[in-house]
Amino acid sequence: MNNHLHKTYLIETYGCQMNVADSELVEGILNKIGMQKTTVVDDADAIFLNTCAIRENAESKIHSRLGNLYKLKLNKPELIIGVLGCMAQNLKDDLLKNKPYVDIILGPDSYRNIPMLINRHNLDKKSIVDTKLSRFEVYENMFPKRGDTFNAWVSIMRGCDKFCTFCIVPFTRGRERSRSIDSIVQEIQRAVSDGFAEITLLGQNVNSYNFEEKDFADLLLEVSNIDGVKRIRYTSPHPQDINEKLLEVMASRENICNYIHFPLQSGSNKILEKMNRTYSKEHFIYMVKKIREIIPNCGLSTDIIVGFPGETDDDFRDTLQVMNEVKFNSAFTFKYSPRPYTKAAQFSDQIEETIKKERLDELIKLQKKHTLEHNLAKIGTFQKILIEKESKKSINHWAGRTDSNEWVIVDKNNNNIKDIIPVEITNATGVILHGKQIESV
Ligand code: SAH
Ligand code: SF4
Ligand code: F3S
Repeated sequence: MNNHLHKTYLIETYGCQMNVADSELVEGILNKIGMQKTTVVDDADAIFLNTCAIRENAESKIHSRLGNLYKLKLNKPELIIGVLGCMAQNLKDDLLKNKPYVDIILGPDSYRNIPMLINRHNLDKKSIVDTKLSRFEVYENMFPKRGDTFNAWVSIMRGCDKFCTFCIVPFTRGRERSRSIDSIVQEIQRAVSDGFAEITLLGQNVNSYNFEEKDFADLLLEVSNIDGVKRIRYTSPHPQDINEKLLEVMASRENICNYIHFPLQSGSNKILEKMNRTYSKEHFIYMVKKIREIIPNCGLSTDIIVGFPGETDDDFRDTLQVMNEVKFNSAFTFKYSPRPYTKAAQFSDQIEETIKKERLDELIKLQKKHTLEHNLAKIGTFQKILIEKESKKSINHWAGRTDSNEWVIVDKNNNNIKDIIPVEITNATGVILHGKQIESV
């Protein structure tokens, strides 16, 4: 296995954190067979794009990137170009037909095969496709090559069985399956001994984790008991699987962050039903109240889609109304984008682009107002922040996040990345807080 023609590889990662984690897994595999990572395109013998298919614009980015790589390959014919991740599944036929210079196409469940496939390609120079989805692959006991940062991504389950009608993920990533608690705990122990301060548990549907009668709350409790785990986050949960047991576990453990990503998608019951989201707006609001009752000061973020097929102005007003009632700390907002294979793409009542754009603008404006309100209310409070990086605007300041997921800028003092320090919030501008270090909280 060691005499690969292609020694140096580069991976570009697009999409969600699951892809970031998968790229680290692939790095682990490639390093093991003696390949070396580079971040310089010209130095790479093999370039892999780990792709995302969630919206059309995610895909167009990849198409234009592949166009650039094709030009590169004209001058360097031995360069291997690989497409990994969610688009591999979706676009293999198109890639084979229209982009024959793509050498390797690998779906998210096929990464174990990379070494074998690179070897095979070196022998016969033919394009190789492996996009079979697995009911079992969870990459148990395969240690990823983690980035040089404070946070370790730990993937605990893969796939999604929810089939929201707008979403391509169940088709690109296949069926839900969970890793054993033992292997997750082992991986986290290793990450802690390697110096990672924060652990983020990942899954497309992280809280539908289920392994031998243990649910996500059980797993979270177990992880929080691992020696040396300073902070735990998780993403992305589905509102249907957030229950009181989980909230109680979160409230009971200091090292589990008081932050929940709680994706609303729409505030109209008619649209929620058409989306197959399996909850009503009343249930959603009830759960928000429970969250805030059980975990006071819990940071709440959300995802919202505007312009889903059939969304009337009244439906959109319902979304704004729920936002006004809940007041999320932050929101990721999207214009609906029809995706192949999905039910919603077949609906006849698609919404015009200009209306989507107007609704998106209005929604973003409202969210900005709520974010600022939340942040202003934080002035004068005491928070613990984990220092993550240097401030983008000043080399004399660190940027760190509070437990509830707000960014705070502080003087560097004698602190370092990965330190957790107590601060008093002194100012709020837009999405950023400013703070000063204090003795203790
Ligand atoms: N599993 C996660 C979602 C992952 S996708 C969850 O259920 O929350 C992240 C977000 O992308 C979704 O929450 C949704 O808001 C958005 N999204 C997914 N498909 C989309 C589409 N076809 N058009 C626009 N936004 C979409
Ligand atoms: Fe997509 Fe819905 Fe699954 Fe999230 S829960 S990945 S939105 S199908
Ligand atoms: Fe994109 Fe796949 Fe993640 S479609 S959002 S990379 S699961």
